[in-house]
Amino acid sequence: MGVGVSGWRLARAVSRSGQLGVVSGTAIDVVLARRLQDGDPDGDMRRALAAFPDQRIAAWILDAYFIPGGRPVGEKYRPVPRHTLASAARLVELTVAAAFCEVWLAKEGHAGTVGLNVLRKIELPLPATVYGAILAGVDAVLVGAGNPGEIPALVTGLARHEDVTIDVRVMGARSSDGFGRMPFSPKAVLPDTTVACARPQVLAVVASTDLARGLAQDPATRPDGFVIEGEIAGGHNAPPRGPHREDDYGQPIYDERDEVDLPAILALGLPVWLAGGYGTPEGLRSALALGATGVQVGTTFAFCDESGFTPSIKAQVRTLAGSGDLVVRSDWRASPTGFPFRVAQVPDTLSDPSISSARKSVCDLGVLRTAYLSGKGEVDFRCPAEPETAYLRKGGREINRTGRVCLCNALLASAGLGQVRPGGVVEPPLVTSGTDLSGVVSLTGAAPGGGYTAADVVNYLLTGAA
Ligand SMILES: Cc1cc2nc3c(=O)[nH]c(=O)nc-3n(C[C@H](O)[C@H](O)[C@H](O)COP(=O)(O)O)c2cc1C
Repeated sequence: MGVGVSGWRLARAVSRSGQLGVVSGTAIDVVLARRLQDGDPDGDMRRALAAFPDQRIAAWILDAYFIPGGRPVGEKYRPVPRHTLASAARLVELTVAAAFCEVWLAKEGHAGTVGLNVLRKIELPLPATVYGAILAGVDAVLVGAGNPGEIPALVTGLARHEDVTIDVRVMGARSSDGFGRMPFSPKAVLPDTTVACARPQVLAVVASTDLARGLAQDPATRPDGFVIEGEIAGGHNAPPRGPHREDDYGQPIYDERDEVDLPAILALGLPVWLAGGYGTPEGLRSALALGATGVQVGTTFAFCDESGFTPSIKAQVRTLAGSGDLVVRSDWRASPTGFPFRVAQVPDTLSDPSISSARKSVCDLGVLRTAYLSGKGEVDFRCPAEPETAYLRKGGREINRTGRVCLCNALLASAGLGQVRPGGVVEPPLVTSGTDLSGVVSLTGAAPGGGYTAADVVNYLLTGAA
C-alpha cells in the first residue's frame, strides 16, 4: 500500500507472521529524507543507511537531511529534487538508498519474505527504486498501475547490476523521436558492485484477463505470478472497460465486461492471489476454493497498529467503521492519473470539500507528473493537480483539472509526513481505503475504535484456511 502506509514496520510484522510483507516504493526518496528530518527518533533509518553498500552515499544523505532531534516545530521539510528523464546523480543515489533502507528494515531480524510495491505508471524513479530493493534482498516486486511487461527483464538485469532501460510515455512524441527510453545504470551508483544479487519474483497486479494472457504468453514478459485486483480494493482501481458511466455519486459503473475470467488466468499455470474485498477469513476461504494460491489484503492491514497512517487517522477510521458510519467512495476525478481512486470520507481530510477548496495548489513533489513534448520540442512534465497557470501554460486543458487532488502531498500527509506551508499550516491528508471494511470491524469489535496488530490480522485471516 502506498506512500509510507505499508512501510517497513508493517511489512516486517507481516513477514514475521509468516506471510509476504510488502513495502511501498512510491516516493520512497521523499519518505527517507523526511524521516531523517524528523530526527529518526529510534535510529532505524541511520541503522539501515549504515548497512548500505556505499558509505559515501550514506554520508551525504545524512549530511543533507538528518536533523538531530528533528525539525523545529513549524519548519518546512527541505525539498527533494524531482525525477526527470535524466535525474540528478544524487537523486538517483537517494532513491536507491531509500528503497534499500525500507527493504533492509523490513527484513531485519527474521528470515521471512518481503516484497516491494511499485506502480508502473510512476516510471521515472522505478529502476532506481527496484535496484535499491534488490540490493537489500527483496524477495518479490509487485507491480501494478499499467502494463508490467518490461519489469521481468528489468529485474533480471538489475539483479546482475546490468544497465537497463525502461519505456517512458511522452505525450505528443512519436517513438521515432527517441525520447521514450530512459536508461538506468547500476554502475553509476555502485561502480564496484559485481556479485549478482538474488533475482526477486515479479508479481503482476492485473484486472484484465487479456493483459494476464498477453504477459504470460511471452517468456520475456511472463511474471512469476498474478495479483488479480477487483474494483472495490483500496487505492487506485482499474477504470471500467465499457463506456464512461457514473452513478449518482460520480462513481464509475462497472459491469460484466470488468469481470476477469479466473479459470482462464489459472490455466496460464502461474500462481494467483486475489485482491479487493478478500481481507476476511471468508475471503481467504473463497479465494482458495476458487483455485487461488492466496489473497492480497490492503484495507484490513491499513488500519492496524503497524501501518503508517497517522494514529489519529487510524483511530477515526476504526471508530467510524465500527459504528457503520464510514463511507468510502470511488472518486473518478481525485487522482491526477485519471484512474478511479477510493476515498474514505474522514473528517479533517481532503474528502471534506471545505478543506480541499481551502488548499492552495502547489506542486513541489511531482511524483505523478507525466512527460509531454513541449512546443519547443523538449520533454517537460505536467500534472492536472498542479497550479492552474502552470498547467495551462504547458498545454494542459482546464477540464482535466476539475476535482483533482494533489495526491503526492495528501498521501505523505496521511503518513504523518505532510509539508508545512506558510503560516505553519500542514498539508491536509487524504485517506484511501477499500470498500469492504468487515475485517477492520471484526478486529476492532471487542474494543470499539481500539487497535489491533498485523499479527492479529494474519491470525484472523488464517482461520479461513483452516
Ligand atoms: C491505504 C491503501 C493504499 C494502497 N496503495 C496501493 C499502492 O500504492 N499500490 C498498489 O499496487 N496497491 C495499493 N493498494 C491496494 C492494495 O495493494 C490491495 O491490492 C488492496 O487493498 C486489496 O483490497 P482490499 O483493500 O479490499 O483489501 C492500496 C490499498 C490501501 C487500502
